[in-house]
Amino acid sequence: MTPGKQILVVEDEVITGMDIQNRLKNMGFNVPVVVTSGEDAIKKVKENNPDLVLMDINLNRKMDGIETASQIHSFSDIPIIYMTAYSDEKTLERAKITEPYGYIIKPVKDRELLINIEITFSKHKIQKMTIENEALIQSSKTKSEFLMTMSHELRTPLNAIIGFSDILKRKDFGVLNENQEKYIDYINLSGRNLLQIINDILDISKVEAGKIDISIEKFSIADIINESSALFQDTAIQKQNKVITQIEPGIDFIEADRNRIRQVIYNLVSNALKFSKPGENVIIKARKNGDTVEVSVCDSGIGIKEEDIGKLFKEFEQIDKGVSRQYGGTGLGLVISKKLIELHGGRIWVESKYGEGSTFIFAIPFKPTK
Ligand SMILES: Nc1ncnc2c1ncn2[C@@H]1O[C@H](COP(=O)(O)OP(=O)(O)OP(=O)(O)O)[C@@H](O)[C@H]1O
Ligand SMILES: [Mg+2]
Repeated sequence: MTPGKQILVVEDEVITGMDIQNRLKNMGFNVPVVVTSGEDAIKKVKENNPDLVLMDINLNRKMDGIETASQIHSFSDIPIIYMTAYSDEKTLERAKITEPYGYIIKPVKDRELLINIEITFSKHKIQKMTIENEALIQSSKTKSEFLMTMSHELRTPLNAIIGFSDILKRKDFGVLNENQEKYIDYINLSGRNLLQIINDILDISKVEAGKIDISIEKFSIADIINESSALFQDTAIQKQNKVITQIEPGIDFIEADRNRIRQVIYNLVSNALKFSKPGENVIIKARKNGDTVEVSVCDSGIGIKEEDIGKLFKEFEQIDKGVSRQYGGTGLGLVISKKLIELHGGRIWVESKYGEGSTFIFAIPFKPTK
């Protein structure tokens, strides 16, 4: 039941109108007025904004119920149920065009009335939700497209900042004093950090817009792992960490998107180092498991609480949120990684113990399955 909803009754026979009004009231609906003409119906819909109109088709005035309904629909999406004593083909055809929610033949029976009203309310609710969903999808698409254009536009000047600070760092145009050198380093580093964030935002908006493509080539996964380990050695040494690789013999060539797989491994290794304490090692392993290659990145860092694991692969989710945040980042790395692995027909997951460390693992087929 949907009691309390307001219904407007349009019926030119006063006695019938009052009878329906009383019966609806007994069913728990709110029926403040009964009107006898199309003009009054339009006026009341505008004034009272009811939830439903019960509309007699044959109004003894210049405008009948169907004409009234189509005028009402020009400014309101209120659901309308027709009531009529006779249902000839022509009237039925005209009525259909106005997309009514129901059509009741008079004399109106209580049960039929109630069922029609209930179905109307639930149909109307579903229709409204569908419209809202479509609007949401559209606005999310607009947002993704906006982010895509913005990140593109931001990269151009940012690359100039990075490029020119590189030139100054190389001292091609003269020696810098100690402070100048320090500040140029800051500019360069901040620029690179910002570029990383912008690239992540560009990736995530592409993911959302379904516009990430992978390009498959044959390459050595062992090389990529060793390369990643070498790349992070500097960062690791600064924190007294070490990156170690353990690649099962016989693992070498795979067919996948080399840059995207490298991106995922970088993400995982950079997280592992970020969330490790000084002196701890990060191990990258690769092994064969049936038709898939499994790559894992294992740390003995801060670990993840069981209840937080579900949040990991969601957009902008960082477990350590708010002002107390100690670690940098935007919380996009894992979302992007998950999407990239899924685009390869693989999966990514984590095994972790709070306070003891985490192992992130992804498995992808040696060759694309399709
Ligand atoms: N190895 C790990 N150990 C502990 N927590 C981790 C680890 N890897 C990820 N997390 C948790 O998952 C969150 C999300 O990781 P993700 O890589 O998506 O984002 P981020 O590293 O915070 O930022 P970004 O990668 O976008 O720079 C992290 O903020 C952290 O809370
Ligand atoms: Mg990260």
